[in-house]
Amino acid sequence: MATLRLGDTAPDFTQQSTEGEIHFHQWAGDSWVVLFSHPADFTPVCTTELGKTAALGGEFAKRGVKPIAVSVDSLESHGKWVPDINETQNTTVNFPILADADRSVATLYDMIHPNALANATVRSVFIIDPRHVIRTTLTYPASTGRNFDEILRVIDSLQLTDSHKVATPVNWKDGDDVIIVPSLQDPDEIKQRFPKGYKAVKPYLRVTPQPNK
Ligand code: BEZ
Repeated sequence: MATLRLGDTAPDFTQQSTEGEIHFHQWAGDSWVVLFSHPADFTPVCTTELGKTAALGGEFAKRGVKPIAVSVDSLESHGKWVPDINETQNTTVNFPILADADRSVATLYDMIHPNALANATVRSVFIIDPRHVIRTTLTYPASTGRNFDEILRVIDSLQLTDSHKVATPVNWKDGDDVIIVPSLQDPDEIKQRFPKGYKAVKPYLRVTPQPNK
């Protein structure tokens, strides 16, 4: 199994889920996808993470993103756990949870790190674009719940930088100033792309208002 890197095609798979059998690429269609693993059903941190993902359903939809979770538990186990998530997190789980009891997806995506956590997935995140290309990977230990606002922030950056010749600086969030990519040097194109102007803090550090705001 080769390490998955940014720019690689997200491997396709077929697996059972709480929303029926998933043929991954077909299911993803031309949406963005957040594929994320959690260690196990009926565990406290995972319960909060899946509840938060459900609560952020509108935010994911607004960005054209489909979330999909995976753990190496059975469909029967997921079916018993989901009502607990809904009850305790005051939400309705509205995305599929893969039942990866045979570990085929976890193995394909290298989500089991046996020196950190035996027999379960760590907290992996894959942000995948509409061409099924892996654009971001994140890996957290079992003891640390993820920040799903950060995942949305990364998606905002990816979608912005795909469509404008900019990059996003430290701690950027949607609406903040951005950076003109260093490769853009043509003054006419800069004027056309950034009519609000820019500030050259250094020749390589040119700050401009977010162009699509
Ligand atoms: C949890 O989700 O709460 C958890 C799972 C595995 C190890 C530690 C915490």
